[in-house]
Amino acid sequence: MRFDSKLPDVGTTIFTVMSRRALEENALNIGQGFPDYPIDPRLADALVTAVADGRNQYAPMEGASELREQISRKLAASYQRHFDPQSEITVTCGGTEALYDAIQAVVRPGDEVIIFDPAYDAYEPAVRLAGARCARIALQPPAFRFDWDEVKRRLSERTRLIIINSPQNPSCTVMSREDLDALAACIRNRPISVLADEVYEHVLFDGRQHASVLAHPELRERSYAVFSFGKTLHATGWRVGYCVAPPDMTLELRKVHQFNTFSIASPLQLAIARYLEAYPDAWQGLSAFFEAKRDLLTGLLRGSGLEPVPAAGTYFQLVDYGALSRDDDMKFADRLIREAKIATIPLSPFYANPPRMTLLRLCIAKRDATLETAAHRLRAFAQRAA
Ligand SMILES: Cc1ncc(COP(=O)(O)O)c(C=O)c1O
Repeated sequence: MRFDSKLPDVGTTIFTVMSRRALEENALNIGQGFPDYPIDPRLADALVTAVADGRNQYAPMEGASELREQISRKLAASYQRHFDPQSEITVTCGGTEALYDAIQAVVRPGDEVIIFDPAYDAYEPAVRLAGARCARIALQPPAFRFDWDEVKRRLSERTRLIIINSPQNPSCTVMSREDLDALAACIRNRPISVLADEVYEHVLFDGRQHASVLAHPELRERSYAVFSFGKTLHATGWRVGYCVAPPDMTLELRKVHQFNTFSIASPLQLAIARYLEAYPDAWQGLSAFFEAKRDLLTGLLRGSGLEPVPAAGTYFQLVDYGALSRDDDMKFADRLIREAKIATIPLSPFYANPPRMTLLRLCIAKRDATLETAAHRLRAFAQRAA
């Protein structure tokens, strides 16, 4: 029998491709988004204790009550509003599962979902598995601004969901409160939900404040908001995230979650809950922490020919190689792996129809020494290439 793929054109992700090339060429990988430094030892201890305490059996489907209580506290501190742990908060396997569950809960065959390029790669396959299609709207570099008139033009009777991501990976831009107002105006009186990917909620630079859908009275009534402890606690491998939504939407999300992962690892949930209870402001310094790393890397690269593009948020940084080469970004990224021994992530795979651009994404969630080594190699390469 010839097996008929449901996603024939979905290949290996750009992250896997670049990581594999980095290994082959013995290059330093500062493309993929994960920290190379340890988690807080107090969080590690909390996990050991949770296992020793015997919290090793199934957690409740919607999430350990201790963790949902702590999430509710954290949301109140961030967005000045109470969210009910019983009916509005669900613990998921990272932000990724929350995105998938929300899409399956809302989208039906024949529907359309609006996403904005450059788009994180988890959105479109989930939409297609639900039998729907994405209408992709391209944000143009280097500003990546929203054109809300275009969004209005692209709405149709079939539009069921709009996915937004702020701070946005990989553009490193953030949405403003005015953007959220414009989005709310676009979908007012239409049966359209919002999926807000806010996994970088705590990483905004230069004094910017995160505009969450949860702080927007109109949008929060129709939004799934997705968060990740992987990002917030520097523990991407723990795969713990959560989704916040009104009770009726949460009920539908949980129907998918229940038969997808059912529930998330008990000791991990308990460890995070106890850690947040003991150190309720553990996440408060994240913007300053990453801003210092951004400034270190950009300071070392400025003037090299690999020019940093000002980043407003996320734990990434774009560089523009236009002064060195007109090669396309896939080709140039491969050249950097071979000649500079540095792996980055090109931006074109995040677009359906990539505009002409010369941008690469670097991850700043690395030890200072790693960033210094990377900058040193990149500068030396740029000097040779100039
Ligand atoms: C924009 C965006 N959304 C979602 C995720 C997934 O988060 P998690 O690792 O918690 O599944 C990531 C991870 O890189 C991301 O960058």
